[in-house]
Amino acid sequence: MTENQSPQTKPDPCSFVIFGVTGDLAHRLVVPALYNLAATDLLPDNFCVVGIARKAMSTDALRDSLMEGLRQFATRPVDDAIAGRLLECLTCTEADPKDPSSFDKMREQLEKLEAARKTGGNRLFYLATPPDAFASISKELGRTGLLKEEKGAWRRLVVEKPFGTDLASARALNSELLKIIDEQQIYRIDHYLGKETVQNILVLRFANGMFEPIWNRNHIDHIQITVDEQLGVGHRGSFYDATGALRDMVHNHLFQLLSLVAMEPPTRFDAYSVRSEKAEVLSAIQTQSEADALKNSVRGQYQGGRIGDTDIPDYLKTEDVKPNSTTETYAALKLTIDNWRWAGVPFYLRTGKALGIKRTEVAIKFKQAPFAMFRDTPVDRLSQNYLVISIEPTEGIMLQFNTKVPGPTINVDGVEMKFRYKDYFKAEPATGYETLIYDCMIGDNILFQRADSVEAGWQAVQPFLDAWKKAGAKGLESYKAGSEGPAHAEELLKRDGRSWRKLAARID
Ligand code: BG6
Repeated sequence: MTENQSPQTKPDPCSFVIFGVTGDLAHRLVVPALYNLAATDLLPDNFCVVGIARKAMSTDALRDSLMEGLRQFATRPVDDAIAGRLLECLTCTEADPKDPSSFDKMREQLEKLEAARKTGGNRLFYLATPPDAFASISKELGRTGLLKEEKGAWRRLVVEKPFGTDLASARALNSELLKIIDEQQIYRIDHYLGKETVQNILVLRFANGMFEPIWNRNHIDHIQITVDEQLGVGHRGSFYDATGALRDMVHNHLFQLLSLVAMEPPTRFDAYSVRSEKAEVLSAIQTQSEADALKNSVRGQYQGGRIGDTDIPDYLKTEDVKPNSTTETYAALKLTIDNWRWAGVPFYLRTGKALGIKRTEVAIKFKQAPFAMFRDTPVDRLSQNYLVISIEPTEGIMLQFNTKVPGPTINVDGVEMKFRYKDYFKAEPATGYETLIYDCMIGDNILFQRADSVEAGWQAVQPFLDAWKKAGAKGLESYKAGSEGPAHAEELLKRDGRSWRKLAARID
């Protein structure tokens, strides 16, 4: 810890109730994150974990299964003593919203545990289930009074993505939840906000005086947000085929990046101010007509290919994918933001599976120098000025600018100034969920989505969802696994006289 870091305090005593504890998310991310918090002494002293399964399972069997998960997915070597202490706090209980009496029994058990563990009645319910269970579980939690804040005890509900599948379903889910609990008690998770570099966007913009004066339409030509993945859909065919890239990635992860880059400076670094500015900018994304949405988007589906040592099958031959599916595995969009700061500055977003490399970045392209004073020299083209915030695989920031090539004539070339996190800071590898879970326990919802911003995001993507649904296979382009994506994605920028940053431009 450096002298500028403040020590973290332990959260209040509480019980941590995980719905969907037998699933992938709990094994791969939630429990490994709890383990990392335990290893850094950031779990409450009085604490218990209650794993909720729909079918009967013994606590011992659940402990074994989560231990196996830890061995496979922990981000640091597993210390048996720490893992043992964590799993010793765990109890497995049944509850199925189809059988309301199971929730009444669960309540009794929870209250006994709370008394034994002296958790003071503080409860965090984590819905690590498929999204179609969110409403029914919350309803039961509401009916049994488990979410009611009383006698000084807090009650919180963590909801995973995807939050709704379109604008109407997100509004319906928000309205169901808000009948049961207050907005302040809801923590809508987007794991991108647990990434250090994503949080750093706010620090870069607002803790440095030099960026904000040029962060607007006078100096910025356009912004590119890229989330390229190498992995195909793998075993998630059933979820993915009903979801697609727009719902799986754009509405949440890419919009989080967009809102942090484009929001106005909040007056204070608190949940209300930051979340209000994020919601405001998302609601300023121009809602396009379906015709414009088709013009301003490209969607693709991958065909088989080889990436590194892995053979990726055609998307259409993936397990649980419909053989005639028109679900997009790649999406590129051009969006505009209707406010003074961003008028005339396009935001180009792209994301896809089975692409040539893994890369997550935000690239801010500045306008060219206004006067070509080097025109009578051998310099015919200046390189572009980019500020790139790299989130994966390298965490860092790069500034690309022009410099004179040494020699008797004026030759100019683009060079890069790079900052890499790992060169400056030593951080244990983490799942990204640690900060988020810790924040839920201390009641800080700055990194969680509020109802209005979720709905504003759906409002912006809805015309694309509608237009693509109507168009079906028409306009859905194939691309080869391992490539840069559909050829037309390039057109989206080319017709504006611009181009995407190439795969090779990734910051390493
Ligand atoms: C998840 C999506 O939310 O994010 C996945 O459901 C995707 O399809 C993943 O692969 C990407 O996360 P990351 O942190 O690897 O960029």
